Amino acid sequence: MAYRKLHLLTLVMMFCLFAGLAGNASAEESVPQLSEEEFAKGKQIFFDRCAGCHGTLRKGATGPNLEPKKTRAIPVEALATIVSEGTGGGMPPWKDVMSRDEIELIAKYLQLDPPQPPEWGMEQMKESWKLLVPVDQRPKSPPKRNWQNYFGVIQRDIGKVTIIDGDTKEILTTLNTGFAVHILRTSASGRYMYSIGRDGKATMIDLWATPPNLVAEIKTGLDARSIDTSKYKGKLGNFIDKYAVVGNYWPPHYVIMKGDTLEPIKVVSSRSYTYDTNEFHPEPRVASIVASHHAPEWVLNIKEAGIVLLVDYSKIDNGTVIETKINAERFLHDGGWDSTKRYFLVAANMKNKVAVIDTFERKLVSLIETGNKPHPGRGANYIDPEFGPVWATPHIGEPMVAEIGTDPVKHPQHAWKVVRKMPVAGNGLFIKTHPKSDNIWVDNTISKDLDIAQTLTVYSKKDLGGKPVNMRLTDHGKVVHMEYNKNGDEMWVSVWDKEGEIVIIDDKTRKVKQRIPLATPTGKFNVWNTMQDEY
Ligand code: HEC
Repeated sequence: MAYRKLHLLTLVMMFCLFAGLAGNASAEESVPQLSEEEFAKGKQIFFDRCAGCHGTLRKGATGPNLEPKKTRAIPVEALATIVSEGTGGGMPPWKDVMSRDEIELIAKYLQLDPPQPPEWGMEQMKESWKLLVPVDQRPKSPPKRNWQNYFGVIQRDIGKVTIIDGDTKEILTTLNTGFAVHILRTSASGRYMYSIGRDGKATMIDLWATPPNLVAEIKTGLDARSIDTSKYKGKLGNFIDKYAVVGNYWPPHYVIMKGDTLEPIKVVSSRSYTYDTNEFHPEPRVASIVASHHAPEWVLNIKEAGIVLLVDYSKIDNGTVIETKINAERFLHDGGWDSTKRYFLVAANMKNKVAVIDTFERKLVSLIETGNKPHPGRGANYIDPEFGPVWATPHIGEPMVAEIGTDPVKHPQHAWKVVRKMPVAGNGLFIKTHPKSDNIWVDNTISKDLDIAQTLTVYSKKDLGGKPVNMRLTDHGKVVHMEYNKNGDEMWVSVWDKEGEIVIIDDKTRKVKQRIPLATPTGKFNVWNTMQDEY
């Protein structure tokens, strides 16, 4: 393999090139040479494809530490092979995604010191904030359509969000939302839909406009994953549609904004000490966020610190944020409410565990071993005929759904235990059901076997111990992420491909009802189910 080696004499020069980087290479060490342009390309590839798992500073998260002290001990060829082929332990293969040159470049890049990413504070946020349609210029009443049955669909690879009328199946509009939108959430009233891109850009869509339009946007940081809104109304005040919050990977912080304009109000750092060893971590990222319906509060998951934060937003008007820090487990990722919305269940996926937080008692209730890398999305709530109310999660690392009992009052013997493990066709990302449905749908997106990744597994709630049905939905792309319509009688799922589509399934008959062609659709969110946190 042809890569140039460089010895001590020229090291000084090289470190000048990568200004601001402190080198600690000894005389014996040799490191690859990259031009400024190559380094910039490596940085971009790393940010786009690797930082999500290994961390912007490469200190390790879902994937291990990749700092030079470690990577320089591995030959560039060996690094390139790992990147190209992946490993059985969760490192994906990149040979079908990246060119050979790009793989060799990133292998060399890994041996160089990671550049310190820039900070992004209130000043930069304010500069990036755009109020596209002021509140008084927006419609005063909802459209004549059944807007609570609209779907927002993320078109991941092209940086757009499409709004579809769930009743008529018409595409109402396609909006530019930014690079690789991660999720959508709605305001408590459902009127506004918010998107957060991996590039930290949050956008806000007014669903009452005809067609729905972008009314505000802001860049909250350089890398982000989560967004939610204030959903509490009660004795302590009415916070419906009042605030939005974004959780960032870089800089590691969360940003509280006005719910109707995205004007930033307050930035709070999540840099902190790890919950167990109490060591300082420079990059504890904010993973998922959910909004409480019982208190003026958000639940934020601080991934590397292993801490679940309960953030009381009721006194934000005075500039006060009250944080309750609950020790949970490292590498918190995604999760959702149980059916009562008192308990929050979150996957610590690299620990093969799910942590249960009681938001009333404000404590960790249980840490439950479920299987190889649980990935619930928000999970699924339903009644198991044998075990009572359960919450279920699929797994990235094995083809299995685990059910956890969630009713400590009427079914205490099953509460916070894995009560059932259900085999599915492949390793997957998401599970979905609806209170009115008899079906539980599970995708097999992560399966290495494309034949399986193009199918959905479906269980009947009446026969959870029985054999599931496996349905092939496409002969191209991969099948990912399910969502119900408002009535719970249609299930929508994405075929993730350049020439992708939304497949709509009649939930009673399990027959395909309609296909809507759409480029690279991934997550999709029904307004009613999202505002209610119905999953
Ligand atoms: C989905 C998460 C994920 C992504 C994305 C990812 N990795 Fe990994 N990576 C892992 C995991 C998990 C391991 C550990 C694998 C194992 O132990 O078998 C790993 C291991 C590695 C290793 C071996 C480290 C060692 O200790 O031996 C290298 C090198 C590596 N990754 C580089 C990359 C690069 C470069 C990218 C981007 C092109 C990338 N990874 C993207 C999860 C990821």
